[in-house]
Amino acid sequence: MSTILQVRQIRKAFEHNPVLRDVSLELDEGQVLVVVGPSGCGKSTLLRCINGLEQIDGGEILLRGEVISGRRKNLHLVRQKIGMVFQSYDLFPHMRVMDNLMLGPVKALGKPKEQAREEALRMLARVGLADKAGVYPRTLSGGQRQRVALVRAMLMQPEILLLDEITAALDPEMVSEVLNVVLDLARDGMTMVIVTHEMRFAEAVADQVVFLEDGCVVERNPPEIFFHRPETDRAKHFLQSFDYAPRKRAAPPDTNTGEIQCAP
Ligand SMILES: Nc1ncnc2c1ncn2[C@@H]1O[C@H](COP(=O)(O)OP(=O)(O)O)[C@@H](O)[C@H]1O
Ligand SMILES: [Mg+2]
Repeated sequence: MSTILQVRQIRKAFEHNPVLRDVSLELDEGQVLVVVGPSGCGKSTLLRCINGLEQIDGGEILLRGEVISGRRKNLHLVRQKIGMVFQSYDLFPHMRVMDNLMLGPVKALGKPKEQAREEALRMLARVGLADKAGVYPRTLSGGQRQRVALVRAMLMQPEILLLDEITAALDPEMVSEVLNVVLDLARDGMTMVIVTHEMRFAEAVADQVVFLEDGCVVERNPPEIFFHRPETDRAKHFLQSFDYAPRKRAAPPDTNTGEIQCAP
């Protein structure tokens, strides 16, 4: 498997507030990296830096070995290759679902309209919304809107998809319909970086989990370790706050391979 994304010691501050102090991570093609951590620890900022919505102050970000940070010129290309879906549905309210979905592929990718329409319909059907192509976003439920937002991002054929708490604003009964789409994309080999507070989903979807706190990566481990025998006390406390306590029968880890030293 080849490395698709490298984040190397990035730093980002707002005014005098250092939000990302020293964050490094790597992602292989087809893998899913889940980022968890307390509110305000810099998760959204990290995703925004990765797709160029924020400029970093130090370090570098590479896509397939090519530096993409600090190059404003290619920003639109970076955003095309690295798609993002946010917590709030950002569909255009004055456009029908199909027009929302065709806009990017036709305008930015230069696809013929018929092809864009066919691909959009196929993808809508895949998320169970084939009958919603002609409606306006306001007539959809929150869960349906987020599924459309996922479809819209996928139709841009991104190399990586970044998902920032995409179910956080949804009523509980709609969360799983959206997360199931994400699980389906993951099974299909979509490379993703996912920020979520849904711990069970995180465990199911992740190949790697990164625990971020105070702008630093505190622990990085596969989900079976992170969720059941986390190696740092801070991760343990964080998981306990979600009632996601490590299983009692789990043995303590032999080594501290997942613990990462953070700059003071
Ligand atoms: N555009 C901005 N301007 C100033 N401060 C910001 C901005 N975006 C985020 N921050 C601050 O950065 C910190 C981390 O925010 P964020 O990345 O949204 O955290 P998380 O997503 O983990 O909750 C917070 O203290 C937040 O107030
Ligand atoms: Mg956030």
